[in-house]
Amino acid sequence: MTEKKLRLFKLGVLISGRGSNLMALHQHIQSATLNAEIAVVISNVIDAPGLAWAQTQGLTCYGIERKIFPSKAEYEKKITDLLTSHHVDLVVLAGYMAILGKDFIEHFRNRIVNIHPSLLPAFPGLHPQRQALAAGVTESGCTVHFVDEGVDTGKIIAQKTVPVLPDDTEDTLSERILKEEHQLYAKAIEIVANRL
Ligand code: GRF
Repeated sequence: MTEKKLRLFKLGVLISGRGSNLMALHQHIQSATLNAEIAVVISNVIDAPGLAWAQTQGLTCYGIERKIFPSKAEYEKKITDLLTSHHVDLVVLAGYMAILGKDFIEHFRNRIVNIHPSLLPAFPGLHPQRQALAAGVTESGCTVHFVDEGVDTGKIIAQKTVPVLPDDTEDTLSERILKEEHQLYAKAIEIVANRL
């Protein structure tokens, strides 16, 4: 058995907003349906509800805004150093609303995952649920994928399909997909953990 298998798989979770995927991952870990540990939470929005919640849970967390750094490269260097100092095995984007730079992606190549509320490669980028409704599809869902330099283009790890109903609004479809995201992310992370 390797040293990595003897210790818990460490996640570094990057958020910008409400943090429901972060909460779901924490819940999976608490109930032992995900064998991992949230080593650090970093939000690029100081007043993100997800960051406030992480504090209440006693998770190690930081709010670090891009604007206090002279450049995006320096901001991302700070994030890289924090993730490294917390010995993170996998960087987990959970509603992190910023495009990661080349150096960051290269540094953590194949160790950054994201969750996106569509069945990629369909509907990448912003408002995927709105895009799905506009396209008139009868099924949508969510995808967990590795992050590369493109927008939602990295290798797919896992997907879950949900129906799109005739009377769906962006809100009702988002809610149906989000419920599945909260299950899929933990499963996908377990898959990655077993591969690394
Ligand atoms: C989720 O729908 C996720 O798929 C997308 O951003 C949203 C984040 O929600 N990338 P939350 O902050 O995890 O609640």
